Amino acid sequence: MRTVRVGLLGLGVVGSAVARAILEDHGMAERSGVRLELAKAAVRDLSKKRAVNLPAGLLTADPAEVVNDPQISIVVELMGGENPAFDLISSALSSGKHVISANKEVLAKRGDALLTVASEAGKRLVYEASVGGGVPILNPISDDLLANRLNSIRAIINGTTNYILTRMSSEGAAYDAVLQDAQQLGYAEADPTADVDGFDAVYKIAILGRLAFGTSAAVEGIHREGIGRIAARDFRYADELGFTIKLVAAAQRTPEGLLLRVHPSLVPLDVPMASVNGAMNMVEIEGDLVGPLWLQGAGAGPEPTASAVLGDVLRVARGLDGPGSVVSARVQSLPVAPMSGHICQYYIRLTASDRPGVLAQVAKVLGDAAISIRSVIQMDTDAESGRADLVIMTHSALEANMQEAATKLRGLDVVVELDNLLRVESYGQAT
Ligand code: NAP
Ligand code: HSE
Repeated sequence: MRTVRVGLLGLGVVGSAVARAILEDHGMAERSGVRLELAKAAVRDLSKKRAVNLPAGLLTADPAEVVNDPQISIVVELMGGENPAFDLISSALSSGKHVISANKEVLAKRGDALLTVASEAGKRLVYEASVGGGVPILNPISDDLLANRLNSIRAIINGTTNYILTRMSSEGAAYDAVLQDAQQLGYAEADPTADVDGFDAVYKIAILGRLAFGTSAAVEGIHREGIGRIAARDFRYADELGFTIKLVAAAQRTPEGLLLRVHPSLVPLDVPMASVNGAMNMVEIEGDLVGPLWLQGAGAGPEPTASAVLGDVLRVARGLDGPGSVVSARVQSLPVAPMSGHICQYYIRLTASDRPGVLAQVAKVLGDAAISIRSVIQMDTDAESGRADLVIMTHSALEANMQEAATKLRGLDVVVELDNLLRVESYGQAT
């Protein structure tokens, strides 16, 4: 049986699970016909306690020892961040090694350059674990679904925020406490603002946009909103209206090009995405031949992510095709479409003075912006302060018009605060 030597860059949450599986073999050699050998693992702090016991001499604080070791043929980058990951991946490829990475940030920001380096070096750069944790998404898109012209990808692709939103919704749990749990469970990024502010999902949808639609979007140009404004009452009101709230990432063909967006959305309770809870991820793919397809599973955490990483390692070690370095050349590149052209229904929650004439003023602002109201519900009223929560659902409207109306609503004397403006995901229902 052939032995393939693997070097790790990073031995944190994911790196430790990958190392453990390689050291224990896990039946991988028997199933794949290739024996993996852990040759070296680079970390930042040699004195840190690890979740895996490595044989003596494998740990190093110098990543160059991994990248330059002639005995290592596959480098697995699990450090995270843009740099030094970019330089190390480039060096590893240039020095003749295949690279597996779970690092969505570097792949979203510098993926084009890295894929070029891989192509020039004739080596593979594969990164299934960078999107959807343990859920196979990139390989199916680049292999099994290659016969399809994809129309849209819509997904829950951040486990941390889905875990937080699920617990806020089901238990009314406090945001900060739940975030701490997500960190302890190994779901969150080293800096969890990457999760809660939507950056992580932006990186992942950028990767999907490049792979499925050939669109290299600058991450700064992708519409991004995090979950910070979602309150327990939004779940209650959404539920009364037949929805739940999810952080949605989408890449959709439009007449103007590819619309990429990340924001919290109202999702109808009767569609599959509404029941994706905890750290689970789900990707809805719509292809012209296959129709709608749903891929679901654990989107974060050490073992599910190690599953995706090691799937790539074994595929490359066996010399099989993975999502190669030329995938984007296979599809026609779409330009990035502006968010201002997005059309959807909206949920508006505002705190208003509870007095006659308020509704007329709010309705006038929306009407002037060509936004038609579907329903208005006065929710919690506070008699003492003379304020009430107004929840307005609109018919489909243009994003540019809604943003203009939102600015005017904020300026009305009778509106104390526009607390939340959420988009509603469309599933072909009446608008
Ligand atoms: P982590 O626990 O923070 O581990 C990062 C590891 O990289 C640590 O071992 C750290 O060393 C090492 N490292 C960081 N900078 C380094 C440097 N400059 N030189 C040498 N070593 C360095 O992160 P993680 O959760 O395992 O995530 C790793 C990657 O996988 C990230 O790109 C993340 O986005 C991605 N990912 C994570 C998950 C998940 O569920 N956690 C899922 C999918 C993808 P020390 O231990 O000494 O600090
Ligand atoms: N922090 C990421 C998440 C890890 O919560 O989804 C998986 O990419």
